[in-house]
Amino acid sequence: MQQAIAILDSGVGGLTVVKEVMRQLPREKIIYFGDTARAPYGPRSSEEVTLFTQQIVEYLIQFQPKMIVIACNTATAVALEDIRAMVNVPVVGVIHPGARAAINATETGFIGVIGTEGTIRSGAYPQALREISPHIEVISEACPQFVPLVEKGMFRDEITRDTVRETLRHLRSKPIDCLILGCTHYPFLMDPISEVMGPRVKLISSADETAREISTILHQYGQLAKADEEPVHHFFCSGEPRIFQQIAQDWLKEHLASAPVVWQVP
Ligand code: SIN
Repeated sequence: MQQAIAILDSGVGGLTVVKEVMRQLPREKIIYFGDTARAPYGPRSSEEVTLFTQQIVEYLIQFQPKMIVIACNTATAVALEDIRAMVNVPVVGVIHPGARAAINATETGFIGVIGTEGTIRSGAYPQALREISPHIEVISEACPQFVPLVEKGMFRDEITRDTVRETLRHLRSKPIDCLILGCTHYPFLMDPISEVMGPRVKLISSADETAREISTILHQYGQLAKADEEPVHHFFCSGEPRIFQQIAQDWLKEHLASAPVVWQVP
């Protein structure tokens, strides 16, 4: 039986990573868990986010995945090391891949980061960026209103456009040449964000770079999927499955082979 890559998030945001994994690694089987009943994680304490992440990993481990991807910036910021200590398969987060992609993209050395309150408060992005390039200037902004709008499937609504415009208004005057979308939900808002920031600011989503890191690690471990099997993906969520399914099908442009399974979180 083909072992899967387990990908988890507070809700639907990690589907942005799933889409990129499906594109770059079409043979890989994916098990996805979105903790939609307890999203957003951004306003929660580090202890609570760590506990939720541990609970989800305990649940996913029964499927014997070959790798775990924490496709949530807030959970990566506070729980990555705890999860690495808990399991004996590789665990990948989304912050270092995003930081690397931004360092490769910037020409001026001025980088913006937007994320949840939890991610921005943790300082994880400035730390990851300065580990790679110590003299980088980082301007961070928390955007607490974005995740709930995405979770409701409202990413194309006018009210969402207005919220994005209002929240990012003063970032426009900052001398940044790239902006890290430091939350996996934000690529759903790529159009309104790029409309506000304009063409001189490159938008960096960690999904692309995270999928590349997954590929590198699987290659190192000799665990890339064989080319002879069509993968069947499985989706789980903790909240209302109908809205999750609608968003997943819309975003992935794929009909889910089976309806998402609901796991009642502890
Ligand atoms: C959240 O649940 O607040 C967002 C998840 C993320 O940080 O990517």
